[in-house]
Amino acid sequence: MSRSPAASSADPVPQSVVERAAWLRAEINEHNYRYHVLDAPIISDAEFDALLNELREIESRYPELITPDSPTQRVGAPAAEGFAKVRHPQPILSLGNAFDAADVRAWRDRLIKYAQQYLGASSDLSALDDYVVEPKIDGLTVVLTYADGVFVQGATRGDGLVGEDITANLRAVKSVPLALRREGAMTPPARLSVRGEAFMPIADFEKLNQAQRAAGERTFANPRNAAAGALRQLDPSLTARRPLRLLCYAIVDFAPGADGQTPPRTQWETLDYLRQLGFPVTHIAQRFGDLESAIAYCASYVEKRDDLPFEIDGMVIKLNDLELAQRLGYVGKDPRGAIAFKFPAREATTILKDVNVTIGRTGNIVPNAVLEPVHIGGITITNATLHNYDDIARKDIRIGDRVIVKRAGDVIPYVAGPVIAARTGRERIITPPTECPFCGTALVRREGEVALYCTNADCPGRLDRAISHFVGSSAMDIAGLGEKIVAQLIEAGLIADVADLYTLKKEDLLGLEKFAERKAQKLLDAIEASKRQPLYRLIIGLGIRHVGEVAARALADRFGSLDALVQAASASPEALQAIEGVGPVIAESVSEWAKRESTRALIAKLKRAGVDPRQAARGSQAKAEGPLAGYTFVITGTLSQPREAIAAWIESQGGKVTDSVSKNTTYLVVGDAPGASKIKKAQQLNVPTISEEELRRLAR
Ligand code: IVH
Repeated sequence: MSRSPAASSADPVPQSVVERAAWLRAEINEHNYRYHVLDAPIISDAEFDALLNELREIESRYPELITPDSPTQRVGAPAAEGFAKVRHPQPILSLGNAFDAADVRAWRDRLIKYAQQYLGASSDLSALDDYVVEPKIDGLTVVLTYADGVFVQGATRGDGLVGEDITANLRAVKSVPLALRREGAMTPPARLSVRGEAFMPIADFEKLNQAQRAAGERTFANPRNAAAGALRQLDPSLTARRPLRLLCYAIVDFAPGADGQTPPRTQWETLDYLRQLGFPVTHIAQRFGDLESAIAYCASYVEKRDDLPFEIDGMVIKLNDLELAQRLGYVGKDPRGAIAFKFPAREATTILKDVNVTIGRTGNIVPNAVLEPVHIGGITITNATLHNYDDIARKDIRIGDRVIVKRAGDVIPYVAGPVIAARTGRERIITPPTECPFCGTALVRREGEVALYCTNADCPGRLDRAISHFVGSSAMDIAGLGEKIVAQLIEAGLIADVADLYTLKKEDLLGLEKFAERKAQKLLDAIEASKRQPLYRLIIGLGIRHVGEVAARALADRFGSLDALVQAASASPEALQAIEGVGPVIAESVSEWAKRESTRALIAKLKRAGVDPRQAARGSQAKAEGPLAGYTFVITGTLSQPREAIAAWIESQGGKVTDSVSKNTTYLVVGDAPGASKIKKAQQLNVPTISEEELRRLAR
């Protein structure tokens, strides 16, 4: 085709060209839709390319004809900096899990109880027996926003409230409609935000990894990671080259257009409506009038999941009546009106080549399986935990065995047992060590525990773990000190305990591989800044057995300094038990820790290095401070964490928790399956009820 010179902007665009451009846009979008959403193209790739080229040609002559929904505009310029933040029109919730049919039935029982208690006798409980079941796609949640039918913004889920603006990348995903379809007389809503799942089909993922390998590039562990990487590219042309797909399943925001229509009232209608607007929607959703059929449909996909072109990690059962679902509210981040039916652990068999031993932060000995590499659900596994030596003996696992390796959800892969039938007789029995492989100390078993322990608190085998824990985000939060660097520092003899971090010098670091001026300075600054961390974080960092955040906060609040804590704890564990949030097990452990000579030496060393955070000790009589001071709570039902943890948290915020509702109760916190008597009492006494979410909000 001969190139025509670009028209000057003063030239009026001939009407025929305007019309041709509009026709081409509509035509190309239609073929795009047929190809990427319906999987049913009606023209050849060459014909499609010819249409696209003609439109490009026109737009380069008359740039004023370019519209944001033009199919030529899918791939834009790279973002100069990171992604901007986007506040979602409403919280992007998660889902509660069910692992078997019984869990799903229990979910329905809870719904019935809840509906009767809160929605009143008048509510129509038959709506509880109308379900839509959909695949639970193992991808990444995205939120797509359309203004008057034109795609204007795409965002990641983020923390559910605020996500990242990845509009440019989502434009590059071909199944994301740039303009909504106007089926029949339908006008698109003035504003529409839709939730969907972006993912990479399994076949495309495998092809991508092959290509990555051939190019000597990093491969991806599973389709989900590959999709996540693609969506977070700063250059949309890279996203465009990754074969991402989308399936949409919910409306999160809706403002009517000129015809004043209202959003669909059921999930089933939602899927249909989204389909009509041109969104890709799953074909395997089904509607059921009773729970057992819904469960059976979910269960049938435990097998059928492998026939799907994409990974699913379960099915989702949703109440069809969206208004009812809305009224049922949510527990934590999980809406009551839907539940994920998670599939059982995925497994594979492989050969156990050897067992190596690692040592945990607290000295616990962990046997690890060295495996012949095996793929489970898109991940290659070469190591798995064997839990402990009791477990090995119980399952009669031997070196050389063919073993079943399981990977369930996000848990660490583990060896579930040997395939006895595959034994050759050459397998070797695994005997537990009697001495620590790192320091030679005789190993002990603590009463009631299965793990073996190395009791040497200064064992070099646990030094790296101890230091990694100390610098971790829940403790001193020293950025830039990953496990590799910790290992480097230990190897170079620069640190032998956590206090040594604070006497590191720039010259020390510059001598290490891959350390230049800037990186060294950054690390030293981060270490220096950690001196200002609050006391409770230091207490967490010291890795006292059983002491997590709740106990650490309680100890910090009571004693105000490490010295005071050590003094009191070594005097008597009983003194500690009087503290809310510290039981006998924690008290005993802290006391044992406080009495150790090495503890005192370490604390003295930390102090000399300038690490000695202090805070006002509250003492036992002191008045509570914090956002919840003066509030008394009663808890009923199941919340997102065990009752004790929630109670400890309330106390850490200055509030009080009691067991029964009285006129002194400020709020009744209601979780799942709450006790009827407490709710009744609260109603009688006019005590307001709140959700866990509202409780957390009170403390902000
Ligand atoms: S519904 C209130 N439906 O699974 C709506 N979620 O583990 C709650 N997911 O965060 C979500 N496929 O990202 C829903 N058909 C589907 C889904 C689905 C995948 C994801 C979603 C959610 C996660 C929960």
